[in-house]
Amino acid sequence: MRTQVAIIGGGPSGLLLSQLLHRKGIDSVVLERQTRDYVLSRIRAGVLEWGMVELLREAGVGQRMDAEGIIHEGTLLAAQNRTIRIDFRKLTGKAVMIYGQTEITHDLYDARDAMGGVVIHEAEGVTPHGLDSDAPHVTYVKDGTEHRIDCDFVAGCDGFHGVSRKSIPSSVLKEFERVYPFGWLGVLSETPPADDELIYAIHERGFALCSMRRADLSRHYVQVPLTDRVEDWSDDAFWAELKRRIPEHAAQRLVTGPSIEKSIAPLRSFVAEPMRWGRLFLVGDAAHIVPPTGAKGLNLAASDVHYLYNGLLAHYQDGTPEGLDDYSRKALLRVWKAERFSWSMTNMMHRFPDQGDFGQRMQESELDYLEHSTAAQTALAENYVGLPY
Ligand code: APR
Ligand code: PHB
Repeated sequence: MRTQVAIIGGGPSGLLLSQLLHRKGIDSVVLERQTRDYVLSRIRAGVLEWGMVELLREAGVGQRMDAEGIIHEGTLLAAQNRTIRIDFRKLTGKAVMIYGQTEITHDLYDARDAMGGVVIHEAEGVTPHGLDSDAPHVTYVKDGTEHRIDCDFVAGCDGFHGVSRKSIPSSVLKEFERVYPFGWLGVLSETPPADDELIYAIHERGFALCSMRRADLSRHYVQVPLTDRVEDWSDDAFWAELKRRIPEHAAQRLVTGPSIEKSIAPLRSFVAEPMRWGRLFLVGDAAHIVPPTGAKGLNLAASDVHYLYNGLLAHYQDGTPEGLDDYSRKALLRVWKAERFSWSMTNMMHRFPDQGDFGQRMQESELDYLEHSTAAQTALAENYVGLPY
């Protein structure tokens, strides 16, 4: 088989890139290790920067998002039982869209099917070859048979644990990482949201977040030690802890219910440089991870896709290499700004085991400054709604 772009990974990055390319007549093949059902079973964040909203519309998959998504013009930060509202619309003129990643993946798969897009599931042993040549190819095994796909370029959209990043020589690759000393225990419940907007809360017992997917589906989190296991937490214990950490008015109106999904996720900041090596381009979680405090994971994948899509378009339509040659530099400039924002939000809103009294005063002072400074609120708002592509 031959294609123009071989895409390793059928998550949001790979599917969105494939969809955008197909609409411009550039063919691709997506190689996904898991089954479609497995990919669709993932519960992930659902705060979309407006740049991603526009990119999904450009890909022709914005219809359900526009019909079912919820536009949020602000968010709430809570500490010591006081609440600060960050007014995105007033401070930046922009908003964010609440629409679950699972729904986006559904919409992308439906669009791929409608266009006859090639997504090969249960592709095992996917291996890129000849990345530093002019004729790369990818091999994989499906149903016990080995296959080869010759291509012009390989997009590594295979997430943090994928094969693509590891295909870059260690003499070339530089990795940056910070692992946080706590995790997020998350619960999905068929209950109404705690408030009209998201609540990010810092309490002496730790961080909490009240989020949502729809008017009848909520997603909540509490910070937990890395030693905790999900089986240590009954639903009742989770709800009681969440109520302790969020403002009283939200705790009183909170509707609790059985968890339909419950899991603990670790938090890390990670960046791999460069995001290009020869004919390989790293996209999304394959190249970077952010702590979820800034809701940037999916949104950074979208901006990477935007840069790579436009670089490939210029290559195939105009024969100009600049977009691809500049991909890594441009993508990393935005990645590092999102890493900084996510790191700073995590530091401001979590209890660190070793932070001490001085560290606690720093957090309290940062929130006090945020509460009384339009400049500070604007800085947070413009990062949260998304810096320009
Ligand atoms: N071969 C083929 N597919 C692979 C391989 C491999 N060796 N390794 C991983 N994959 C697949 C995974 O099964 C997954 O479906 O690549 C896909 C990567 O998807 P994500 O991990 O979702 O990463 P990405 O598409 O960049 O999306 C980033 O989605 O998962 C969230 O937290 C993430 O919000 C972030 C966004
Ligand atoms: C979520 O809805 O899962 C969510 C929202 C905002 C975040 C993180 C997670 O910052």
